[in-house]
Amino acid sequence: MELLKNKIVEEGIVLSDTVLKVDTFLNHQMDPFLMQEMGKEFAAYFADAGITKVVTIESSGIAPAIMAALHLEVPMIFARKRKSLTLQDGLLTAKVYSFTKQEENEISIADKFISEDDTVLIIDDFLANGQAAFGLMELVKQANAKVAGIGIVIEKAFQDGGKQLREQGVNVYSLARVSSLADNKVTFATEQIE
Ligand code: G4P
Ligand code: NA
Ligand code: NA
Repeated sequence: MELLKNKIVEEGIVLSDTVLKVDTFLNHQMDPFLMQEMGKEFAAYFADAGITKVVTIESSGIAPAIMAALHLEVPMIFARKRKSLTLQDGLLTAKVYSFTKQEENEISIADKFISEDDTVLIIDDFLANGQAAFGLMELVKQANAKVAGIGIVIEKAFQDGGKQLREQGVNVYSLARVSSLADNKVTFATEQIE
């Protein structure tokens, strides 16, 4: 998506060979026009997939997810993250390990919000090692619902998540695929994976 790629080139800061800072439009300050356009793009791509719910994880996934849900005309649910493992009734839960932060979180969604009749589009801001995506897929699976696909704002194609998900047959649609952050430079993947 050109609008997003331009924004990344103009405002993204390469913090290291593996981390891209985009806090001017995605992770802290948010650009509502860009969010809206990204929501439209996700909705158009998954238009014929029979989506009934959009699911994301707090906090940075919420904005692109609500815009995708708006254009698909379905509800959006965000999984909550917390560290403690307090048992509670009525929750779908999964463990998500972050290699970046070296910590494990439990993520959860109230089970009343997803049922076996649902076809879910998962949305997230970044795809790195795919742990968040696998955790969200696990929640959907626990509800006996279907995953129609995953929409990602920025995929770091040099990390393993996208490859693992696609090898499992998951339809991953990323609006920007970054192939390298070496030499303080953002390089986009040229091949389109759809
Ligand atoms: P994974 O789910 O793909 O395995 O990713 P990982 O554990 O590495 O990601 C942990 C957090 O770091 C996630 O945000 C993820 O979106 C974010 N992240 C990963 N790589 C980058 C990057 O290159 N740049 C930026 N800006 N963020 C990255 P989170 O902790 O869930 O926070 P939130 O922003 O959703 O609140
Ligand atoms: Na994030
Ligand atoms: Na996220």
